[in-house]
Amino acid sequence: MSSRAHWSSRLGFILATAGSAIGLGNIWRFPYLVGQNGGCSFLIVYLCCVFGLGYFMLVGKLSFGRAAKTNIVDGFQTIASQAQKNISPTWGFLGGMLTLLNAIIISGVYVTVIGWTLFYTFESFQNLFFFTKNIHEQTTFNNLISSFEIQLFLGTLCILLTAFIISKGVKKGIERVALYLMPLLFILLVVMLIRILVLPNAEKGIAFFLSPNWAAIGFSSEGIDFKLFSKVLLTAVGQSFYSLSLGMGVMFTYGSYLANTNDLKKDARWIVSLDLMVSILAGLIVLPAVFAFNLEPTTGAGLTFMTLPYVFANMWGGELWAFLFYLLLFIAALTSLISIYEPLTALFIDKLKLTRNKATLLTAFLNICFFVLALLSLTKKIHFQLMGKNLFDAFDWITGSVSLSLTMIVCCLFMGWIGFIPIWRNFRRGSRASRVFRTYLKIVLQFIAPFLLTILILMAFI
Ligand code: TRP
Repeated sequence: MSSRAHWSSRLGFILATAGSAIGLGNIWRFPYLVGQNGGCSFLIVYLCCVFGLGYFMLVGKLSFGRAAKTNIVDGFQTIASQAQKNISPTWGFLGGMLTLLNAIIISGVYVTVIGWTLFYTFESFQNLFFFTKNIHEQTTFNNLISSFEIQLFLGTLCILLTAFIISKGVKKGIERVALYLMPLLFILLVVMLIRILVLPNAEKGIAFFLSPNWAAIGFSSEGIDFKLFSKVLLTAVGQSFYSLSLGMGVMFTYGSYLANTNDLKKDARWIVSLDLMVSILAGLIVLPAVFAFNLEPTTGAGLTFMTLPYVFANMWGGELWAFLFYLLLFIAALTSLISIYEPLTALFIDKLKLTRNKATLLTAFLNICFFVLALLSLTKKIHFQLMGKNLFDAFDWITGSVSLSLTMIVCCLFMGWIGFIPIWRNFRRGSRASRVFRTYLKIVLQFIAPFLLTILILMAFI
């Protein structure tokens, strides 16, 4: 399709893709996972997952998209015919539909959390200049998550902003925003890091982050605790895939806007490294900050919104740092939300023959529906429950524990068993790779990833 959008530069593509990868997963989730799973030992397991699996999945997904040059639903059929194989339309339906369902459900949860980051950004800004409320008061977060109106307002703001950017298209919207926001994000990260590292006692957090605690991942003098180790390993696998935005057609769609000349091997290396670097920097900011005030790093999801405000409130110039930190989080999350919108929008343009503006509106509308549902349930306006959870938690659980993995299993099996030859051929057009690389990629797609993902799903039910 000659009219298909494409990136205008390699830098733009890398930054936009890194912008998708770098998000709440890196700054909100990664530090608390490290905190809960024994610091450096988790980091080592995570590094193995990123370079041993995530990188190859990313190469696969980008090449799949670039070879297909179409939307995620038609992509399966296109590649199958390039491989001269007959497949049932179920593949496209399953793979494509699951992907889109993930995107719609996740974006509801994602928008809610971005709303929180926006709230903390505004509040610290107000504090900075008008010395109003204290965001560190324990009640702040609880008040926020029980207020339907405030969250609705902030979430809608994020949705409108994202829709505006997406409606501008790939080059003028996604790429341009990434070219401005990603460098800003890196600058903010470094500034924050320097500020945190000069805190008294910050070295305790760095030591926690950099000295391994093998017992926490199941290796002790008494032997190996396989159960604990597999739990940590699977957590790391799940986190690495989530962080690299796998499972929602993002990498497929971003890949489909690429020219065949890009060296995907190198580009993927850049994307993975940038993503990893931000996770590690976020860990080096959040954990030392928590340790400097003698707080516990193991509080889980509340670390960013309950523990950190306390840290900022007790820090010299805290309002400014709080403002910069939450702004950083907001930017990271926004570029990820943008990427979640694109596969849906691209599909609506192709399949429903809509203009980009109309397709964007439809995506935003679907997002709003799920966002409002999640919010109504989170703020107890409706008492509908799914599996004993409110809808916000249920959406998060379904996608995080089941459907993202399920989608990836379908995609990996397809890429490994049916479409491998055209996908590999496409990959080779811009990159050199050895036979070992090819064999390993194939094994990851055919066996390792589907196997680990299946266990990940089973674990969620046990
Ligand atoms: N990678 C993003 C993060 O770390 C989240 C994200 C964006 C995502 N697009 C995705 C996760 C697609 C899974 C699939 O926050």
